[in-house]
Amino acid sequence: MDRFLNDNHMLMIPGPITVPPRILRVNSRPMINHRGPIFQKIHEYCVDGLKKIFKTDEGEVYIFASVGTGAMEACVSNFFNKDDRVLVLINGNFGQRFAQIANVYGLNVDTLEFVWGQYAEPEKVKEYLSKYPKGTYKGVLVQHNETSTAILNDLERLSPIIKEHGALFVVDSISGMVAAPFEMDKWKVDVVAAASQKAFGCPPGISLLGVSKEALNRANNSNLPRFYFDVRKYHESYKKGQPPFTAPISLYFSLEESIKMIFEEGLENFQKRHIVLRDAVRSAVKALGLKLVSDDKCASPVVTGVFSPEGIKPQDIIDNMRKEFGIVLAGGQSQFKGKIFRIGHLGFIGATEIFATFAALELTLEKLGYKFEKGISVKAAQKVFEENM
Ligand SMILES: Cc1ncc(COP(=O)(O)O)c(C=O)c1O
Repeated sequence: MDRFLNDNHMLMIPGPITVPPRILRVNSRPMINHRGPIFQKIHEYCVDGLKKIFKTDEGEVYIFASVGTGAMEACVSNFFNKDDRVLVLINGNFGQRFAQIANVYGLNVDTLEFVWGQYAEPEKVKEYLSKYPKGTYKGVLVQHNETSTAILNDLERLSPIIKEHGALFVVDSISGMVAAPFEMDKWKVDVVAAASQKAFGCPPGISLLGVSKEALNRANNSNLPRFYFDVRKYHESYKKGQPPFTAPISLYFSLEESIKMIFEEGLENFQKRHIVLRDAVRSAVKALGLKLVSDDKCASPVVTGVFSPEGIKPQDIIDNMRKEFGIVLAGGQSQFKGKIFRIGHLGFIGATEIFATFAALELTLEKLGYKFEKGISVKAAQKVFEENM
């Protein structure tokens, strides 16, 4: 019998993540009328809370019943016209997905690719865009946190370059939102996607779309087909304090609870905790003598990619971690498939989960024949937590 094939496991993948009991409990509340006063209050609390999290007074945040890819699709289908030229900055699997979606909608897609594990160098983006007359690109699409390569892009530095060109600044912050600082108004982000199963710690099924005033104007003139994800419907309906279609009510209960928990901890503290988690994980990996996928300067606060040691398959590490310890790690994607494993460290977790992960990882690596000093990674993680207590 595999004792971890039930609920008894610890998810250390970059989403979906372990859902805290408080959120699980509200998720099972009885249904309510989605057009009634109780739901309206929850809806308004969520929208208001999300605007504080996205840091926007001027923009709006819409809530969809979909996974993150739905919001990525909405990023494209609402704000452009057929044949518009857009630039997608790619440093991983999800950048490629943005380009695929834009292609499907008949946009003229150019890509600017970066080495996987490195962020989108603002200087290179500037140099690239300077070769084209202003306004050539109607939009620049980029990931905030590229989950597949465990990097965080520098949106603050990319912003003036993209805005100077006159393009819409379109961001996928599906795995970055809440965990990494995000400033929608200050960084002049026009459109941003997020999702419930990442740092919000909810089950999958809600995606979020932040939309600036300028982007909303563009949505009125876009000739691309859309229906469920048409932001104009959400804009009109939200004026009445309601979503335009039946809401995923259980997930709204979860989201409301998650937002309450984030504000109880304080958004800044929540984000600082993710930096400590990141530093503890990276320090533990380095202590083991393993190679990290991303540079320190662009290291993701929610996921860490690690190259498997010579001669050891990442899948063997992942399998042993799950079978022996009930700890679930993620593998690599696309060009990193079969080369790396990834440790997710986001949401409402702390030192306990990191200690357990590295104690188990050490026994796993030892079993697979990797040589290192036993206890060294746990000690390295302890040091980071101790310094930040
Ligand atoms: C950066 C990023 N973008 C997009 C997605 C796609 O989200 P979903 O799987 O919810 O459709 C993910 C999922 O991991 C992601 O990490």
